[in-house]
Amino acid sequence: MKFLNSEEDPEYINLQTEMVWLQQHIKETNQRVIVLFEGRDTAGKGGAIMRFIRFLNPRLFRVVALSKPTEKEMGQWYFQRYIEHLPGPGEMVFFDRSWYNRAVVEPVMGFCTQEQYDRFKKQVVQLEQMLVEDGIHLFKFWFSIGPHEQKRRLEERVSNPLKQWKLSRVDVHAQAKWQEFTTYKEWMFQNTSTPLSPWTVINGNHRETARREAMRCILNKLEYPKKGSTGERLETDKNIIKTIKKTNG
Ligand code: ADP
Ligand code: AMP
Ligand code: MLT
Repeated sequence: MKFLNSEEDPEYINLQTEMVWLQQHIKETNQRVIVLFEGRDTAGKGGAIMRFIRFLNPRLFRVVALSKPTEKEMGQWYFQRYIEHLPGPGEMVFFDRSWYNRAVVEPVMGFCTQEQYDRFKKQVVQLEQMLVEDGIHLFKFWFSIGPHEQKRRLEERVSNPLKQWKLSRVDVHAQAKWQEFTTYKEWMFQNTSTPLSPWTVINGNHRETARREAMRCILNKLEYPKKGSTGERLETDKNIIKTIKKTNG
């Protein structure tokens, strides 16, 4: 596969066209969509979001990339600052990291207490159930990368002036705490992947393939009148994407 200039690639243009059609339908039918992107540092969350929104109407989507909580936010219900950004009718909201901070990054980095983590574990599935039962389409993507690829990308961040802003204290620990991230991630998959809101894991080791697969996953799942008219293959590739099945409860 060659992806030198993706904007000249017909497959890329087709997927973007399908996204525009989907957005149009979401607007006309007043549907609400959340797409949340999770994954280790450098997994490609931000880059994938850029792809999703490339040709969309900016009045009808929002990208939510919250920074660390303020003093006030730390004193309120954990989910509150995310709730403020839920989609209204006709809107798609892309979360670049989400309430799942408290499932992995926060406990690994010591940003929350054990008690806060335990409360999160009790509340998250209930919360998502409420959203989905109310008719919101909720997609949860985990962009998965291997330790060597992460190391390479972190080094690139240091040397590339366009990427230096992405470097953070959390990144510095990403490699050393690889195994701890894995442990918390596994709990998350086992306990927060429900039939109503399953996790979809995208192999993020190849950036371009990962972005396209995430788009296909959404296009495949949601209905819209012109679906597939570009001739684009909308079924997802099982080697690139997998859905975590609920394992207990
Ligand atoms: P990103 O990977 O999104 O570029 P970082 O690697 O800096 O950002 O941090 C990862 C996540 O951890 C972010 O969502 C950030 O808001 C969160 N975070 C960073 N510091 C804290 C903190 N002190 N308390 C809670 N969350 C934090
Ligand atoms: P993840 O982003 O956590 O899904 O991990 C991506 C890849 O890294 C998967 O293929 C895992 O099998 C692999 N992996 C996870 N943990 C480790 C580890 N401790 N050492 C080496 N590889 C790992
Ligand atoms: C990440 O996953 O850490 C970043 O969002 C990478 C990117 O911007 O593609």
